Amino acid sequence: MKKIKVMSVFGTRPEAIKMAPLVMELGRREGLESICCLTGQHREMLDSVMQAFGLQAQYDLDIMERQQTLSTITTKTILGMDRVIDQAKPDLILVHGDTSTTFAGALSAFYHKIPVGHVEAGLRTWDKYSPFPEEMNRTLVGDIAELHFAPTRANADNLRAEGIRGEIFITGNTAIDAMQTTVKERFTFEDPLLNTLDFDAKRVIAVTCHRRENYGEPMRNIMRAIREVVDRHPDTEAVYPVHLSPAVRECAREYLSGHPRIHLIDPVDVLQMHNLIARCHLVMTDSGGLQEEAPALGRPVLVMRRETERPEAISAGTAKLAGVEYEPIVSMACELLDDPEAYRTMARAVNPYGDGSACKRIAQAIEWYFGLNEQRPADFVPGDHN
Ligand code: UD1
Ligand code: UDP
Repeated sequence: MKKIKVMSVFGTRPEAIKMAPLVMELGRREGLESICCLTGQHREMLDSVMQAFGLQAQYDLDIMERQQTLSTITTKTILGMDRVIDQAKPDLILVHGDTSTTFAGALSAFYHKIPVGHVEAGLRTWDKYSPFPEEMNRTLVGDIAELHFAPTRANADNLRAEGIRGEIFITGNTAIDAMQTTVKERFTFEDPLLNTLDFDAKRVIAVTCHRRENYGEPMRNIMRAIREVVDRHPDTEAVYPVHLSPAVRECAREYLSGHPRIHLIDPVDVLQMHNLIARCHLVMTDSGGLQEEAPALGRPVLVMRRETERPEAISAGTAKLAGVEYEPIVSMACELLDDPEAYRTMARAVNPYGDGSACKRIAQAIEWYFGLNEQRPADFVPGDHN
């Protein structure tokens, strides 16, 4: 019997981390053939994930440029995808989340009349320009996709509120699936700085910051706030694996370099990052993925953004929106570092985002859609797995 060919298209670090366990799960299903097309929107950071999970792609558009714009990413992806789709002739194209790769990948599939499955569907802030351009990317992909894999019930409700066409499945987030294999009780870091950090003697603050809408004033506020927080607490060390984006690196270097307890390091692979989060005291970030991962590991998260499309951890009490102004970021971080009760309240392992079985649900949903499985997958319900 001819297998259903499922082509996963992704290109940035977070997409790769969250698609890797799904690509592997699809590969285990008898009726499916799983292939990957990388856009290469991120080069080094994407390759690092592929290596960590031992994955090899069948196609690689290799589009990254040092000064890439939203337009160059989008146009190069669409042109490259034309050739790949003609050659691979997939039955279904999967895209993930809200990057320019996601949007251009879905649009290419539509041009070729190939159904699209959207993994991590339905996240919304309802603000067109924040996060930019992600909110519009994911909204447009929602219109294109036939299959919507919403991590949470709230995400599915967002799609229903938009009157979206197609099938909606509540699956949990595949980030939690990825963490099943990466986090280890005993782990040796490859990064020389991480390898020598004493996580027992020091309170380690894991920092990341990279979002486009934070470029400029907000990012400068964030950097100054982090420096102030570390200055006020001699028993803390901040570790910031700095994104390879030149705009981010310049800002981080200007405001945070030269401090004995602030460590700017190159991006680390996903194994090291997940194990860093598992061992740190506090996460301060504007990242999407870290807002999902840290709560699962019982680490409080201060979200350095104006809004978030991931309200679940805030409702669960393990994340707080700190904004992008200097003063609130400093005071919220200081409260957590100075008040053990405030810290304890936030440092509880909760998993509103998934139970580690998202990929199984998505694979089953695809089988169901193509008539290979009579059962629709049951929805993910937080707490069901405990
Ligand atoms: C992209 C996504 C964003 C996601 C983020 C995850 C878009 C519009 N943005 O933003 O949604 O949160 O990835 O990290 O899709 N670079 C390298 N090597 C790499 C990766 C990046 O040198 O491996 C540098 C390049 O100079 C590149 C720049 O970073 O031009 C920016 O990369 P880009 O993908 O355009 O934007 P991100 O800010 O990474
Ligand atoms: N991450 C990583 N190495 C790093 C920094 C982050 O592996 O040096 C991981 C992190 O654990 C999460 C993902 O990258 O899984 C988040 O990616 P990013 O913050 O770049 O993008 P976002 O999630 O905001 O789209």
